Amino acid sequence: MNVLIVGSGGREHALAWKIKKSPLVKDVWCAPGNGGIASIARCVDIAPSDIDELVNFVKKNKVDLTVVGPEAPLVAGIVDAFEQKGLKIFGPRKDAARLEGSKVFAKEFMQKYSVPTAPCKIFDDIDEAMEFLTVAPLPLVVKADGLASGKGVFVCDKIQEARDAVDQIMGRKVFKEAGEKIIIEECLFGEEASILAVSDGKSYVILDSAQDHKRIFDDDLGPNTGGMGAYSPAPVITEEMLRKIGIQIIDPVIRGMHKSGTPFKGVLYAGLMMTDEGPRVLEFNVRFGDPETQAILPRLKTDLAEILQASCEGRLDKVKMEWDKRSCVCVVMTSGGYPGEYETGKEIKGLDAVKDDHTLVFHAGTKKKGDKVVTSGGRVLGVTSLGNDIEQAIERVYQSVEKIKFDRCFFRRDIGAKALKHLHPSPQTTVRGR
Ligand code: AMP
Ligand code: GLY
Repeated sequence: MNVLIVGSGGREHALAWKIKKSPLVKDVWCAPGNGGIASIARCVDIAPSDIDELVNFVKKNKVDLTVVGPEAPLVAGIVDAFEQKGLKIFGPRKDAARLEGSKVFAKEFMQKYSVPTAPCKIFDDIDEAMEFLTVAPLPLVVKADGLASGKGVFVCDKIQEARDAVDQIMGRKVFKEAGEKIIIEECLFGEEASILAVSDGKSYVILDSAQDHKRIFDDDLGPNTGGMGAYSPAPVITEEMLRKIGIQIIDPVIRGMHKSGTPFKGVLYAGLMMTDEGPRVLEFNVRFGDPETQAILPRLKTDLAEILQASCEGRLDKVKMEWDKRSCVCVVMTSGGYPGEYETGKEIKGLDAVKDDHTLVFHAGTKKKGDKVVTSGGRVLGVTSLGNDIEQAIERVYQSVEKIKFDRCFFRRDIGAKALKHLHPSPQTTVRGR
Protein backbone atom coordinates (compact mmCIF):
# COMPACT_ATOMS: atom_id res chain seq x y z
CA MET A 1 0.00 0.00 0.00
CA ASN A 2 0.94 3.66 -0.33
CA VAL A 3 1.09 5.71 2.87
CA LEU A 4 0.96 9.48 3.44
CA ILE A 5 2.34 10.89 6.69
CA VAL A 6 1.13 14.37 7.64
CA GLY A 7 3.64 16.56 9.52
CA SER A 8 7.26 17.68 9.49
CA GLY A 9 8.91 16.84 12.81
CA GLY A 10 11.15 14.20 14.34
CA ARG A 11 8.04 12.17 15.15
CA GLU A 12 7.09 12.07 11.46
CA HIS A 13 10.64 11.07 10.47
CA ALA A 14 10.47 8.18 12.95
CA LEU A 15 7.02 7.18 11.63
CA ALA A 16 8.25 7.30 8.02
CA TRP A 17 11.35 5.26 8.90
CA LYS A 18 9.33 2.56 10.66
CA ILE A 19 6.44 2.43 8.16
CA LYS A 20 8.91 2.14 5.27
CA LYS A 21 10.23 -1.10 6.76
CA SER A 22 6.85 -2.77 6.36
CA PRO A 23 6.58 -5.40 3.59
CA LEU A 24 2.98 -4.16 3.14
CA VAL A 25 4.15 -0.69 2.09
CA LYS A 26 5.20 0.46 -1.39
CA ASP A 27 5.49 4.26 -1.44
CA VAL A 28 5.73 6.60 1.56
CA TRP A 29 4.79 10.25 1.09
CA CYS A 30 5.14 13.02 3.65
CA ALA A 31 3.36 16.39 3.72
CA PRO A 32 5.34 18.56 4.06
CA GLY A 33 8.25 16.53 5.54
CA ASN A 34 11.75 17.86 6.22
CA GLY A 35 15.39 17.54 5.10
CA GLY A 36 15.79 14.07 6.62
CA ILE A 37 12.44 12.64 5.62
CA ALA A 38 13.24 13.69 2.03
CA SER A 39 15.96 11.04 1.88
CA ILE A 40 13.60 8.15 2.74
CA ALA A 41 10.18 9.32 1.50
CA ARG A 42 8.66 11.59 -1.14
CA CYS A 43 7.93 15.00 0.35
CA VAL A 44 5.05 17.09 -0.98
CA ASP A 45 4.64 20.73 -0.08
CA ILE A 46 1.15 20.71 1.47
CA ALA A 47 0.57 22.18 4.94
CA PRO A 48 -1.04 19.87 7.55
CA SER A 49 -3.79 22.49 7.95
CA ASP A 50 -4.77 22.33 4.26
CA ILE A 51 -7.22 19.46 4.59
CA ASP A 52 -8.88 19.94 1.16
CA GLU A 53 -5.51 19.83 -0.60
CA LEU A 54 -4.51 16.70 1.35
CA VAL A 55 -7.77 14.99 0.32
CA ASN A 56 -7.09 15.89 -3.34
CA PHE A 57 -3.52 14.63 -3.11
CA VAL A 58 -4.54 11.30 -1.58
CA LYS A 59 -7.19 10.70 -4.23
CA LYS A 60 -4.88 11.64 -7.09
CA ASN A 61 -1.90 9.61 -5.87
CA LYS A 62 -3.82 6.51 -4.77
CA VAL A 63 -2.72 6.73 -1.14
CA ASP A 64 -4.20 3.81 0.80
CA LEU A 65 -3.54 5.02 4.35
CA THR A 66 -2.93 8.48 5.83
CA VAL A 67 -1.24 8.85 9.21
CA VAL A 68 -1.54 12.20 11.00
CA GLY A 69 1.35 13.39 13.19
CA PRO A 70 0.33 16.69 14.82
CA GLU A 71 -2.79 17.48 16.86
CA ALA A 72 -4.06 20.60 15.07
CA PRO A 73 -5.47 18.86 11.94
CA LEU A 74 -7.04 16.13 14.13
CA VAL A 75 -8.77 18.73 16.31
CA ALA A 76 -9.84 20.55 13.11
CA GLY A 77 -11.52 17.39 11.78
CA ILE A 78 -9.13 15.93 9.17
CA VAL A 79 -10.29 12.38 9.99
CA ASP A 80 -13.97 13.29 9.50
CA ALA A 81 -13.14 14.95 6.15
CA PHE A 82 -11.20 11.91 4.91
CA GLU A 83 -13.78 9.39 6.11
CA GLN A 84 -16.59 11.33 4.42
CA LYS A 85 -14.74 10.73 1.15
CA GLY A 86 -14.22 7.05 1.99
CA LEU A 87 -10.45 7.49 2.54
CA LYS A 88 -8.59 5.46 5.17
CA ILE A 89 -6.91 7.57 7.84
CA PHE A 90 -5.33 6.80 11.22
CA GLY A 91 -6.40 9.08 14.05
CA PRO A 92 -9.44 10.17 16.07
CA ARG A 93 -12.41 12.05 14.65
CA LYS A 94 -13.01 15.65 15.70
CA ASP A 95 -15.36 14.71 18.56
CA ALA A 96 -12.83 12.29 20.04
CA ALA A 97 -9.88 14.66 19.47
CA ARG A 98 -11.48 16.99 22.05
CA LEU A 99 -9.59 14.95 24.65
CA GLU A 100 -6.59 17.06 23.58
CA GLY A 101 -8.38 20.01 21.96
CA SER A 102 -10.22 21.01 25.13
CA LYS A 103 -8.69 20.49 28.57
CA VAL A 104 -12.11 21.32 30.07
CA PHE A 105 -13.72 18.52 28.03
CA ALA A 106 -10.94 16.13 29.15
CA LYS A 107 -11.34 17.08 32.82
CA GLU A 108 -15.13 16.73 32.79
CA PHE A 109 -14.77 13.40 30.98
CA MET A 110 -12.25 12.17 33.58
CA GLN A 111 -14.53 13.26 36.41
CA LYS A 112 -17.46 11.42 34.83
CA TYR A 113 -15.52 8.19 34.31
CA SER A 114 -13.48 8.33 37.56
CA VAL A 115 -10.10 8.62 35.84
CA PRO A 116 -7.54 9.80 38.41
CA THR A 117 -6.41 13.41 37.82
CA ALA A 118 -5.70 16.56 39.85
CA PRO A 119 -8.72 18.21 41.50
CA CYS A 120 -9.59 21.44 39.70
CA LYS A 121 -12.00 24.29 39.16
CA ILE A 122 -13.12 25.50 35.73
CA PHE A 123 -13.75 29.18 34.96
CA ASP A 124 -15.15 31.17 32.03
CA ASP A 125 -15.11 34.48 33.92
CA ILE A 126 -11.85 36.28 34.73
CA ASP A 127 -13.15 37.97 37.89
CA GLU A 128 -14.32 34.68 39.37
CA ALA A 129 -10.97 33.08 38.53
CA MET A 130 -9.05 35.96 40.18
CA GLU A 131 -11.33 35.73 43.22
CA PHE A 132 -10.63 32.00 43.54
CA LEU A 133 -6.87 32.68 43.52
CA THR A 134 -7.20 34.58 46.83
CA VAL A 135 -8.26 31.34 48.58
CA ALA A 136 -6.61 28.63 46.45
CA PRO A 137 -3.66 26.79 48.04
CA LEU A 138 -0.23 27.24 46.39
CA PRO A 139 1.48 25.97 44.34
CA LEU A 140 -1.21 25.62 41.69
CA VAL A 141 -1.44 25.15 37.93
CA VAL A 142 -3.30 27.43 35.50
CA LYS A 143 -4.21 25.95 32.09
CA ALA A 144 -5.82 27.45 29.00
CA ASP A 145 -8.63 25.23 27.72
CA GLY A 146 -7.67 24.95 24.05
CA LEU A 147 -4.57 24.24 21.94
CA ALA A 148 -1.70 26.59 22.76
CA SER A 149 1.35 24.80 21.25
CA GLY A 150 2.38 23.59 24.72
CA LYS A 151 2.56 27.16 26.06
CA GLY A 152 -0.82 27.33 27.81
CA VAL A 153 0.16 25.66 31.11
CA PHE A 154 1.60 27.68 34.02
CA VAL A 155 2.89 26.02 37.20
CA CYS A 156 2.73 28.82 39.79
CA ASP A 157 4.47 29.00 43.17
CA LYS A 158 3.30 32.54 43.95
CA ILE A 159 -0.12 34.13 43.77
CA GLN A 160 1.24 36.90 41.54
CA GLU A 161 2.43 34.33 38.98
CA ALA A 162 -1.03 32.77 38.98
CA ARG A 163 -2.68 36.19 38.53
CA ASP A 164 -0.33 36.92 35.60
CA ALA A 165 -1.19 33.57 34.03
CA VAL A 166 -4.93 34.20 34.32
CA ASP A 167 -4.45 37.72 32.95
CA GLN A 168 -2.41 36.44 29.98
CA ILE A 169 -4.97 33.80 29.09
CA MET A 170 -8.29 35.56 29.82
CA GLY A 171 -7.39 39.25 30.07
CA ARG A 172 -4.87 39.76 27.27
CA LYS A 173 -6.17 36.72 25.36
CA VAL A 174 -2.71 35.69 24.15
CA PHE A 175 -4.08 32.28 23.10
CA LYS A 176 -7.21 33.85 21.55
CA GLU A 177 -10.31 31.61 21.83
CA ALA A 178 -8.19 28.78 23.33
CA GLY A 179 -8.29 30.90 26.51
CA GLU A 180 -12.04 31.48 26.78
CA LYS A 181 -12.11 28.95 29.60
CA ILE A 182 -9.38 28.07 32.07
CA ILE A 183 -8.63 25.34 34.56
CA ILE A 184 -7.00 26.04 37.91
CA GLU A 185 -5.76 22.78 39.39
CA GLU A 186 -3.81 21.33 42.26
CA CYS A 187 -0.09 20.96 41.67
CA LEU A 188 1.03 17.32 41.68
CA PHE A 189 4.47 15.99 42.54
CA GLY A 190 6.34 12.95 41.28
CA GLU A 191 8.03 11.67 38.16
CA GLU A 192 6.31 12.17 34.80
CA ALA A 193 5.79 9.38 32.26
CA SER A 194 4.13 9.09 28.85
CA ILE A 195 1.90 6.12 28.14
CA LEU A 196 0.67 5.70 24.58
CA ALA A 197 -2.09 3.28 23.61
CA VAL A 198 -3.29 2.51 20.09
CA SER A 199 -7.04 1.94 19.89
CA ASP A 200 -9.54 0.99 17.20
CA GLY A 201 -12.42 2.44 19.19
CA LYS A 202 -13.07 -0.70 21.22
CA SER A 203 -9.83 -2.65 21.68
CA TYR A 204 -6.51 -1.14 22.56
CA VAL A 205 -2.86 -2.08 23.00
CA ILE A 206 -0.55 -0.14 25.27
CA LEU A 207 2.88 0.65 23.85
CA ASP A 208 6.00 0.37 25.99
CA SER A 209 6.47 3.38 28.30
CA ALA A 210 8.59 6.47 27.68
CA GLN A 211 9.70 9.55 29.51
CA ASP A 212 10.04 13.00 27.99
CA HIS A 213 12.28 15.86 29.23
CA LYS A 214 10.17 18.99 28.84
CA ARG A 215 12.39 21.72 30.31
CA ILE A 216 15.18 23.32 28.27
CA PHE A 217 18.04 22.93 30.78
CA ASP A 218 19.62 20.00 32.64
CA ASP A 219 18.00 18.99 35.95
CA ASP A 220 14.60 20.05 34.58
CA LEU A 221 15.31 23.77 34.87
CA GLY A 222 14.18 26.67 32.68
CA PRO A 223 11.11 27.05 30.47
CA ASN A 224 9.07 24.22 28.96
CA THR A 225 9.83 23.14 25.39
CA GLY A 226 8.26 20.70 22.93
CA GLY A 227 10.58 18.06 24.44
CA MET A 228 14.38 17.94 24.71
CA GLY A 229 14.78 14.18 24.71
CA ALA A 230 13.14 10.92 25.68
CA TYR A 231 13.91 7.37 26.63
CA SER A 232 12.02 4.10 26.49
CA PRO A 233 11.19 2.07 28.46
CA ALA A 234 10.77 4.28 31.54
CA PRO A 235 11.82 2.09 34.47
CA VAL A 236 9.53 4.08 36.81
CA ILE A 237 6.74 2.16 35.01
CA THR A 238 6.99 -1.41 36.28
CA GLU A 239 4.94 -4.18 34.72
CA GLU A 240 2.52 -3.95 37.65
CA MET A 241 2.22 -0.18 37.20
CA LEU A 242 1.53 -0.57 33.47
CA ARG A 243 -1.36 -2.91 34.29
CA LYS A 244 -2.68 -0.44 36.84
CA ILE A 245 -2.52 2.38 34.27
CA GLY A 246 -4.41 0.14 31.86
CA ILE A 247 -7.17 -0.54 34.38
CA GLN A 248 -7.43 2.92 35.97
CA ILE A 249 -6.80 5.16 32.97
CA ILE A 250 -6.72 3.70 29.46
CA ASP A 251 -9.62 1.27 29.90
CA PRO A 252 -12.16 3.78 31.31
CA VAL A 253 -11.23 6.32 28.61
CA ILE A 254 -11.68 3.90 25.70
CA ARG A 255 -14.92 2.52 27.21
CA GLY A 256 -16.21 5.98 28.14
CA MET A 257 -15.56 7.41 24.68
CA HIS A 258 -17.31 4.44 23.11
CA LYS A 259 -20.27 4.77 25.47
CA SER A 260 -20.51 8.49 24.70
CA GLY A 261 -20.90 7.74 20.98
CA THR A 262 -17.46 9.18 20.15
CA PRO A 263 -15.25 6.08 19.92
CA PHE A 264 -11.54 6.82 20.14
CA LYS A 265 -9.52 5.50 17.20
CA GLY A 266 -5.83 6.41 16.99
CA VAL A 267 -3.15 7.03 19.61
CA LEU A 268 -4.31 7.97 23.07
CA TYR A 269 -1.33 9.51 24.85
CA ALA A 270 -1.69 9.91 28.60
CA GLY A 271 0.79 12.36 30.16
CA LEU A 272 1.03 11.08 33.74
CA MET A 273 2.42 12.19 37.08
CA MET A 274 3.47 9.19 39.15
CA THR A 275 2.46 10.50 42.60
CA ASP A 276 2.77 8.72 45.95
CA GLU A 277 -0.99 8.07 45.66
CA GLY A 278 -0.66 6.48 42.22
CA PRO A 279 -0.72 7.63 38.58
CA ARG A 280 -2.61 10.86 37.83
CA VAL A 281 -3.41 12.21 34.35
CA LEU A 282 -1.87 15.63 33.61
CA GLU A 283 -3.12 15.75 30.05
CA PHE A 284 -4.25 13.66 27.12
CA ASN A 285 -2.86 13.95 23.64
CA VAL A 286 -4.58 12.29 20.71
CA ARG A 287 -1.49 11.48 18.65
CA PHE A 288 2.02 10.07 18.90
CA GLY A 289 4.30 12.04 21.26
CA ASP A 290 7.32 13.97 20.04
CA PRO A 291 10.08 13.01 20.99
CA GLU A 292 8.65 9.87 22.69
CA THR A 293 7.94 8.27 19.29
CA GLN A 294 11.61 8.53 18.31
CA ALA A 295 12.54 6.50 21.44
CA ILE A 296 9.64 4.02 21.24
CA LEU A 297 9.55 2.99 17.55
CA PRO A 298 13.14 1.69 17.28
CA ARG A 299 12.14 -0.81 20.02
CA LEU A 300 8.94 -1.95 18.30
CA LYS A 301 9.49 -5.23 16.45
CA THR A 302 5.93 -5.50 15.14
CA ASP A 303 5.02 -4.02 11.73
CA LEU A 304 3.68 -0.52 12.49
CA ALA A 305 1.77 -0.27 9.19
CA GLU A 306 -0.11 -3.43 10.18
CA ILE A 307 -0.96 -1.96 13.61
CA LEU A 308 -2.21 1.32 12.12
CA GLN A 309 -4.24 -0.46 9.48
CA ALA A 310 -5.75 -2.77 12.12
CA SER A 311 -6.77 0.31 14.14
CA CYS A 312 -8.55 1.78 11.09
CA GLU A 313 -10.27 -1.53 10.36
CA GLY A 314 -11.36 -2.32 13.95
CA ARG A 315 -9.28 -5.48 14.34
CA LEU A 316 -6.61 -4.50 16.84
CA ASP A 317 -7.52 -7.43 19.08
CA LYS A 318 -5.84 -9.68 16.47
CA VAL A 319 -2.51 -7.80 16.54
CA LYS A 320 0.36 -9.12 18.61
CA MET A 321 2.94 -6.61 19.79
CA GLU A 322 6.60 -7.51 20.17
CA TRP A 323 9.30 -5.34 21.70
CA ASP A 324 13.07 -5.22 21.53
CA LYS A 325 14.24 -5.57 25.14
CA ARG A 326 16.98 -3.01 24.67
CA SER A 327 16.75 0.60 25.88
CA CYS A 328 16.47 3.56 23.56
CA VAL A 329 17.47 7.18 24.22
CA CYS A 330 16.74 10.20 21.99
CA VAL A 331 18.61 13.48 22.51
CA VAL A 332 17.11 16.53 20.79
CA MET A 333 19.61 19.01 19.33
CA THR A 334 18.14 22.52 19.15
CA SER A 335 18.93 25.95 17.69
CA GLY A 336 20.45 28.19 20.39
CA GLY A 337 17.75 30.46 21.87
CA TYR A 338 14.93 27.91 21.53
CA PRO A 339 12.20 27.87 22.96
CA GLY A 340 12.56 31.66 22.57
CA GLU A 341 13.89 33.33 19.44
CA TYR A 342 16.52 31.54 17.39
CA GLU A 343 18.24 31.78 14.02
CA THR A 344 17.86 29.28 11.18
CA GLY A 345 19.73 28.49 7.95
CA LYS A 346 22.84 27.12 9.72
CA GLU A 347 24.66 24.33 7.90
CA ILE A 348 24.60 21.02 9.79
CA LYS A 349 27.94 19.23 9.61
CA GLY A 350 28.97 15.76 10.74
CA LEU A 351 25.77 13.87 9.84
CA ASP A 352 27.87 11.46 7.75
CA ALA A 353 30.25 10.92 10.66
CA VAL A 354 27.51 9.08 12.61
CA LYS A 355 28.23 5.53 11.50
CA ASP A 356 27.20 3.60 14.61
CA ASP A 357 24.76 0.79 13.65
CA HIS A 358 22.84 1.34 16.88
CA THR A 359 22.12 5.01 16.17
CA LEU A 360 19.50 6.79 14.07
CA VAL A 361 19.37 10.52 13.39
CA PHE A 362 15.77 11.72 13.06
CA HIS A 363 15.40 15.17 11.52
CA ALA A 364 12.93 17.81 12.77
CA GLY A 365 13.68 21.44 11.82
CA THR A 366 15.97 20.77 8.85
CA LYS A 367 15.79 21.34 5.12
CA LYS A 368 17.91 20.51 2.13
CA LYS A 369 19.76 23.39 0.47
CA GLY A 370 21.58 22.08 -2.59
CA ASP A 371 23.69 19.21 -1.29
CA LYS A 372 23.75 20.66 2.24
CA VAL A 373 21.34 20.21 5.14
CA VAL A 374 20.54 23.41 7.06
CA THR A 375 18.55 24.20 10.21
CA SER A 376 14.99 25.44 9.75
CA GLY A 377 13.41 25.21 13.19
CA GLY A 378 13.88 25.21 16.97
CA ARG A 379 14.17 21.47 17.45
CA VAL A 380 16.59 20.38 14.74
CA LEU A 381 17.57 16.71 15.19
CA GLY A 382 16.68 13.77 17.43
CA VAL A 383 19.77 11.61 17.75
CA THR A 384 18.57 8.20 18.92
CA SER A 385 20.55 5.16 20.12
CA LEU A 386 19.73 1.66 21.26
CA GLY A 387 21.78 0.00 23.99
CA ASN A 388 21.68 -3.26 25.91
CA ASP A 389 20.79 -1.13 28.90
CA ILE A 390 20.03 2.53 29.40
CA GLU A 391 23.64 3.31 30.36
CA GLN A 392 24.93 1.95 27.08
CA ALA A 393 22.22 3.79 25.12
CA ILE A 394 23.16 7.06 26.85
CA GLU A 395 26.87 6.52 26.13
CA ARG A 396 26.22 5.76 22.46
CA VAL A 397 23.81 8.61 21.87
CA TYR A 398 26.14 11.26 23.29
CA GLN A 399 29.09 9.88 21.27
CA SER A 400 27.04 10.52 18.12
CA VAL A 401 25.69 13.89 19.28
CA GLU A 402 29.28 15.10 19.74
CA LYS A 403 30.00 14.38 16.04
CA ILE A 404 27.23 16.67 14.77
CA LYS A 405 27.86 20.42 14.64
CA PHE A 406 26.00 23.56 13.72
CA ASP A 407 26.36 27.16 14.83
CA ARG A 408 24.76 27.82 18.26
CA CYS A 409 23.64 24.21 18.65
CA PHE A 410 22.26 23.35 22.10
CA PHE A 411 21.21 20.07 23.77
CA ARG A 412 20.69 18.70 27.28
CA ARG A 413 23.46 16.53 28.71
CA ASP A 414 21.31 14.61 31.20
CA ILE A 415 18.80 12.78 28.98
CA GLY A 416 18.07 9.38 30.52
CA ALA A 417 19.86 10.15 33.78
CA LYS A 418 16.60 9.87 35.76
CA ALA A 419 16.10 6.30 34.55
CA LEU A 420 19.38 5.21 36.13
CA LYS A 421 17.74 5.74 39.55
CA HIS A 422 15.41 2.77 39.24
CA LEU A 423 17.02 0.04 37.28
CA HIS A 424 15.07 -3.16 36.93
CA PRO A 425 13.95 -5.26 33.96
CA SER A 426 11.44 -3.67 31.57
CA PRO A 427 7.87 -5.05 31.30
CA GLN A 428 7.73 -7.90 28.81
CA THR A 429 4.02 -8.51 28.40
CA THR A 430 1.56 -6.54 26.32
CA VAL A 431 -1.26 -4.92 28.29
CA ARG A 432 -4.40 -4.88 26.21
CA GLY A 433 -8.15 -4.82 26.63
CA ARG A 434 -11.51 -4.43 25.00
P1 AMP B 1 0.12 19.58 30.17
O1 AMP B 1 0.20 20.23 28.81
O2 AMP B 1 -1.20 19.70 30.84
O3 AMP B 1 0.72 18.20 30.23
O4 AMP B 1 1.17 20.40 31.03
C1 AMP B 1 2.51 20.61 30.62
C2 AMP B 1 3.44 20.33 31.77
O5 AMP B 1 3.03 21.11 32.92
C3 AMP B 1 3.36 18.88 32.28
O6 AMP B 1 4.19 18.04 31.54
C4 AMP B 1 3.84 19.07 33.70
O7 AMP B 1 5.25 19.18 33.74
C5 AMP B 1 3.24 20.38 34.10
N1 AMP B 1 1.93 20.16 34.78
C6 AMP B 1 0.69 20.13 34.22
N2 AMP B 1 -0.26 19.92 35.15
C7 AMP B 1 0.39 19.80 36.33
C8 AMP B 1 -0.04 19.56 37.66
N3 AMP B 1 -1.32 19.41 37.99
N4 AMP B 1 0.91 19.48 38.63
C9 AMP B 1 2.22 19.64 38.32
N5 AMP B 1 2.69 19.88 37.10
C10 AMP B 1 1.79 19.95 36.09
N1 GLY C 1 6.32 15.12 24.20
C1 GLY C 1 5.16 15.91 24.45
C2 GLY C 1 4.18 15.89 23.37
O1 GLY C 1 4.29 15.18 22.40
O2 GLY C 1 3.20 16.64 23.48
